[in-house]
Amino acid sequence: MLQPAASLAMKHLLSLQSASARDMRRVLELALQLKRDRANLSFRPLEGQSWAMIFTKASTRTRVSFEVGIQELGGRVLYLSPRDTQLGRGEPLRDTARVLGRMVHGAVIRTFAQSDVEEFAELSGIPTINALTDAEHPCQILADIQTLIERRGSLEGRKVVFLGDGDNNVARSWMWAAEKLGFQFVISAPEGYQPPQKFLRKFKSGNVSVEPNPIKAVKNADVLYTDVWVSMGQEDEAAKRIADLEAYQINSALVARAAKDALVMHCLPAYREKEITAEVLEAHADTIFSEAENRLHAQKAILTILQQDRTGK
Ligand code: CP
Ligand code: NVA
Repeated sequence: MLQPAASLAMKHLLSLQSASARDMRRVLELALQLKRDRANLSFRPLEGQSWAMIFTKASTRTRVSFEVGIQELGGRVLYLSPRDTQLGRGEPLRDTARVLGRMVHGAVIRTFAQSDVEEFAELSGIPTINALTDAEHPCQILADIQTLIERRGSLEGRKVVFLGDGDNNVARSWMWAAEKLGFQFVISAPEGYQPPQKFLRKFKSGNVSVEPNPIKAVKNADVLYTDVWVSMGQEDEAAKRIADLEAYQINSALVARAAKDALVMHCLPAYREKEITAEVLEAHADTIFSEAENRLHAQKAILTILQQDRTGK
């Protein structure tokens, strides 16, 4: 039986765990198109709208790509740091959500708890986008996959190897993308930095696996991917994490073990000589900074699809 149209709509982007393969593909296709058409200034689906950005963690790429993206689509942005709002003085998010839901047209939230973004979406009633939580970084992975498609043509048969903290927000969003979009995702991380078995059991496709030996993991890889070893909020554990993850650095010796044309990707910010050497980062700067640029195109695609699905236009 055909699904009613409403159930096919993308109402929010809260995680890739909850996103459908169909919506991810729609975002990727539109992101590639919006990148080609960036000079077309007449495409303004957010005309007359105001979007709130609530960021309780630092950001360069995500903040700038959303601010520029919303403006290019015709909307206005309110950047709300908890420092300047009553959130910083303890006003609950559930009250902030109900206030903003009556004033603005959508929200982009970067914070710690995934449950906060989900609660905001439910109580505000406006399209809500996860701009990074401790659990996921869905927008990042959509831009990364856009970059992979640009460089390799398709996802079919691709193998992405994630080295380092294999249980962080970026790794988890990659796992859901691999599960749903059908490419191989291998986590290469030591014990204590791998996703727990209970979480891994959620992945039924056979696309997600763990290979603790980095040299074995990178064999025949299309992409070597890494992220910081110390995510925001983990600063107190920095010394231990850096020591524990040393063997998972992307350096020229490891790159030499991968296919000759393997891509090296990093969501940035990068800590040179920690998760990646300066030499490898600079050798692959074109890919890495294209990933960063694609944040803009992917955010515009997400915003446009949320708007189209909300209005049916
Ligand atoms: N990759 C990423 O999300 O970067 P920012 O923390 O600068 O937004
Ligand atoms: N895992 C990192 C991603 C930064 C974009 C963090 O959460 O700090």
